[in-house]
Amino acid sequence: MERNFKETKEMKPQGRNYGSFDSQNADMKQIEISDKNDEGLTVLSEITRKLVLSVQTSNHIAFILSSAKEILNASASSVILVDEKKKELFFEFADGNVGGLITQVRINIASGIAGWVAREGKPLIVNDVKSDQRFSVDLDRITGFVTRSIICVPILVQSQVIGVIEVVNRKDGSDFREQDLEVLKVLANIAATAIDRVRLNEALVYGYINAVNALATTIDNKDPFTREHSYRVKEYALMGARSLQLPQRQLDIIEYAGLLHDVGKIVIPNEILRKSEPLTPEEWATMRRHPSTGSDIIATMPRLDEVGNLVRYHHERYDGTGYPDGLNGEEIPIGARLLAVADAFDTMTTKRSYRGNVSLEVAVEELRKYSGKQFSALAVEAFICGLMKQKQFVPEHIHAPRGKLILPSNPLIKGIRVPNT
Ligand SMILES: [Fe+2]
Repeated sequence: MERNFKETKEMKPQGRNYGSFDSQNADMKQIEISDKNDEGLTVLSEITRKLVLSVQTSNHIAFILSSAKEILNASASSVILVDEKKKELFFEFADGNVGGLITQVRINIASGIAGWVAREGKPLIVNDVKSDQRFSVDLDRITGFVTRSIICVPILVQSQVIGVIEVVNRKDGSDFREQDLEVLKVLANIAATAIDRVRLNEALVYGYINAVNALATTIDNKDPFTREHSYRVKEYALMGARSLQLPQRQLDIIEYAGLLHDVGKIVIPNEILRKSEPLTPEEWATMRRHPSTGSDIIATMPRLDEVGNLVRYHHERYDGTGYPDGLNGEEIPIGARLLAVADAFDTMTTKRSYRGNVSLEVAVEELRKYSGKQFSALAVEAFICGLMKQKQFVPEHIHAPRGKLILPSNPLIKGIRVPNT
């Protein structure tokens, strides 16, 4: 078959500009020097301004794509990322009529125009896809979309191709031009920074989660009778928090605080932690320092200050008789009130060296008995409600018929104002 490359323009790679990390400055520079497309540049200036103001990366990318489509007067646009391990491309974001469908598709990096751009790291304009052997019809077959022309540029981070931006079909049927590439290059540069920021942030979050889990395991392992206590307290506190429909950010804080609530016990001698006889007043004084020690430890970790607060207050009591600060009632953040209930529930239902465990029903009875006194009534009812909804999380070691437990009618939860953590 004769190969016709007449309509195809391969462009030189853009070099270091693509991989720039100080994208805002780099983008502005490119905007200033490229005066070929005034209309496009005005929009790009606006994009840059909005991006500086925006914090949502997915919004960034959606905005970049709709801008690319608008400026280039095209039918569809997509950000396609490279999966290095599988040597595949996947559509991270796509708009146009088949955007929803296309994001479920993965393609081999060896095929298609996007694959070629990703492999070569070079921009490409193909104004008649039928005449270009690199074009693959597979996607069109799946989606029913008819591709006529494509303009595609690589997205580079530190000279590595992490994906491509592809814009398809000029609406008026005219050709994509070299100056369109200038616009798309700027957008690819912005997308690179946005995607890289998300990846760095994800790596940071995973790092935190691993560190937090490792710390929680260390604390629990200090006392064989409380192994996995931190994990269960986290789950129980989250049950209550979900019943109250707390926002995701507060759930995240409660999750970390649940895992770390006893982190201050790291500095308490094992003889005290593992003692089966009653503690002496001096030993109690040492034990009671763990919430403030814990919050001091957490204060050394960036971004976890709200978690530190919950850790500090998890032994405060609703009637003001708790420690370390003697807070009472609503002064205690709802996250800490939920932790107190979760902590007590797990302590009651778990065997210790010096006593056995009680059944779920007895533990719930106890929580209700001290509801409005030691415990926040809201936190108690929210927890019980969550417990009933998520029985799969109830540990197997609580062996008791559960039918007797009455599902709370939730007078305290219905229509409640969402409290602050
Ligand atoms: Fe504690």
